[in-house]
Amino acid sequence: MGKVNFTIDGKEIQAEKGVTILQAARQENIYIPILCDHPALPPEGACRICLVEIEGQRALHPACTYPISEGMAVSTNTPRIRAARKFNLELLISDHPLDCMTCEAAGNCLLQDLAYEYDVTEDRYEGTKHHYSVNDPNPFIQVDRNKCILCRRCVRACREVNGVEAISVFYRGFSAYIGFGADSSMDNSPCEFCGSCVAVCPTGALWPKLSLGEGRPWQVDRIQTTCPYCGVGCQLILEVKDNKIIKVDSAWDGPSNHGWTCVKGRFGYDFVHHPDRLDKPRVRKYLLDGKKKPAAEKRKPEIEGDPWQWVEVDWETALGITADKMLQIRDDHGSESMGFLTSAKCLNEENYLMNKLARQVIGTNSLDHCARL
Ligand code: SF4
Ligand code: SF4
Ligand code: SF4
Ligand code: FES
Repeated sequence: MGKVNFTIDGKEIQAEKGVTILQAARQENIYIPILCDHPALPPEGACRICLVEIEGQRALHPACTYPISEGMAVSTNTPRIRAARKFNLELLISDHPLDCMTCEAAGNCLLQDLAYEYDVTEDRYEGTKHHYSVNDPNPFIQVDRNKCILCRRCVRACREVNGVEAISVFYRGFSAYIGFGADSSMDNSPCEFCGSCVAVCPTGALWPKLSLGEGRPWQVDRIQTTCPYCGVGCQLILEVKDNKIIKVDSAWDGPSNHGWTCVKGRFGYDFVHHPDRLDKPRVRKYLLDGKKKPAAEKRKPEIEGDPWQWVEVDWETALGITADKMLQIRDDHGSESMGFLTSAKCLNEENYLMNKLARQVIGTNSLDHCARL
């Protein structure tokens, strides 16, 4: 592509031809504020917060869409630029509920951060405000259009990353709002509930329903982990408060998912704290008593003392009974009477060990993996 020489705030910079002023500034750790831009999405140029001055040009230009060129001299923080950014922020704030005290996104909201940075303290423009109802009936995502700044990050995430196009902006000007499908509810649209739109929304307009009222960003520990569901191995950030997972956030450095997830990884974590979840091994009472399997039609496991009753045991006991039974089946019915099915939820090492157990301990090649089914 070739290199281009130019300056940002007087600093001489060389960057790849074709990159935008914002991309070049990021490479040099030069701060330019953004709202609609997101490093993982194609630029849109919708919010005009990243405006910069280019020597010799009358108008201010958005750094997120303007490409660099040879000899260009860019300024990022002059009084004129700051005034223009502040004006744009005031316009956004003029149709915003300003309920940061109770907003879920407080402390994790780009609009709030920029209002603080640009000293936007009041609603300067009187006039009509929107009062949308917050009642999308889908089970996962709260949609609060009152907090939407129409940055279109969600639209791009859904279209460019997930390839679904469930979200679009309906109507124009003051009437514009984000909507789903053919202007319906989210669960009545092609939405797959991957949560990509939530991950990139810079305000509290899209928020996970499971996380509502659960805690503030500064009250949580952020723990990076691997999704427990499938072999893609997506990286996730768990937000944990009082030893409870309250939200899943994007790990943008995850090598297999780069921050994106499917519905299971983003919203399927309530099993962790579910009261029905087994956290100790259980065996049938007749196995613990070393008895033969009783007739199934007489089973009444809800009755105390019934041989089919589940009994909580330690791992050593449970694994010992399992190993004895497997060897007994092999000896009584032959190695080929048994088959093994392994899981993409296991580590590679665990799958390898299962292969050893099947072939070398039991002596069967009847071994398969859920990823092949
Ligand atoms: S949850 Fe995923 S599929 Fe649904 S609207 Fe958001 S990005 Fe699109
Ligand atoms: S819902 Fe969020 S991401 Fe989508 S346009 Fe509104 S503010 Fe932007
Ligand atoms: S987020 Fe979805 S795709 Fe990624 S590892 Fe989890 S289940 Fe698999
Ligand atoms: S960040 Fe550049 S126009 Fe929004």
